[in-house]
Amino acid sequence: MQSDILEVVGLCKSFGGVQALRDLSFSIREGEVLGLIGPNGSGKSTTVNLLSGSLPPTGGQIRLGGHRVEALSQWDRVAMGLTRTYQTASVFPEFTVRQHVMLGCEAHRKVSPLAQAFRLKRDKSEEDRVQQKVAQALKLTGLEAEADTVVGVLSAAQQRFLMIATALASNPRVILLDEPAAGMISHERETLSGMIRRIRDTGISVLVIEHHMALIMEVCDRIVVLNFGASIAQGTPAQIRENPAVIDAYLGEAA
Ligand SMILES: Nc1ncnc2c1ncn2[C@@H]1O[C@H](COP(=O)(O)OP(=O)(O)OP(=O)(O)O)[C@@H](O)[C@H]1O
Ligand SMILES: [Mg+2]
Repeated sequence: MQSDILEVVGLCKSFGGVQALRDLSFSIREGEVLGLIGPNGSGKSTTVNLLSGSLPPTGGQIRLGGHRVEALSQWDRVAMGLTRTYQTASVFPEFTVRQHVMLGCEAHRKVSPLAQAFRLKRDKSEEDRVQQKVAQALKLTGLEAEADTVVGVLSAAQQRFLMIATALASNPRVILLDEPAAGMISHERETLSGMIRRIRDTGISVLVIEHHMALIMEVCDRIVVLNFGASIAQGTPAQIRENPAVIDAYLGEAA
């Protein structure tokens, strides 16, 4: 029996008069891919913003490995193993792929990279650990051959894979992906779904937001459906596909 790594209980968020999330509860199990779907404006990105600590909730609890995190900073949550990527690609174009992925290791470093660079303080075992994490992240995302390529010349899809690699380098227990397939063509989406499954198979839990239903149905173990900020259904892809409320609110329109 898998246990829950992330629990969301009664989460609420208002923006002035707009209630973006209403009493949302769900959980993510260890080593599962959970899909979060719903119409535009239904509160998917807001959920990720609250989970990652980009925004404070108006109410409710977020527990990671049993510990309350809703009042912690984004940085503290990354250090505890909760990491995200953004809906829009944000990368440093002048870095090499390897340097970019190394940024993800920051949360766990004892010696600051600046001190490391100026040889003020060296920690060989830490350097080895960083290199190992970076190599694993590059392998999982298929970017090994691009390790020394400058980020700015990568394709848009590769830049999205790079964001995932950078997030993986922070040693997450849960990774939150907001529309990772945006702008991708069919073979890139296939690469992405293989990647998400490989990540899951290493024991990391994945929350994925996507409008691309074939990808969602293919990679998710379970799905949570939002409509107007509330959960209207939770279940396996087969259950969600057949759910009349989901078809009515979202799938009818997506199909
Ligand atoms: N920073 C903000 N300030 C004010 N309103 C916001 C803010 N962020 C989101 N909202 C509002 O909250 C609601 C939920 O938005 P959210 O971005 O979470 O939707 P979404 O499900 O991610 O949509 P999409 O599929 O278009 O990405 C919308 O009504 C949106 O306008
Ligand atoms: Mg969104």
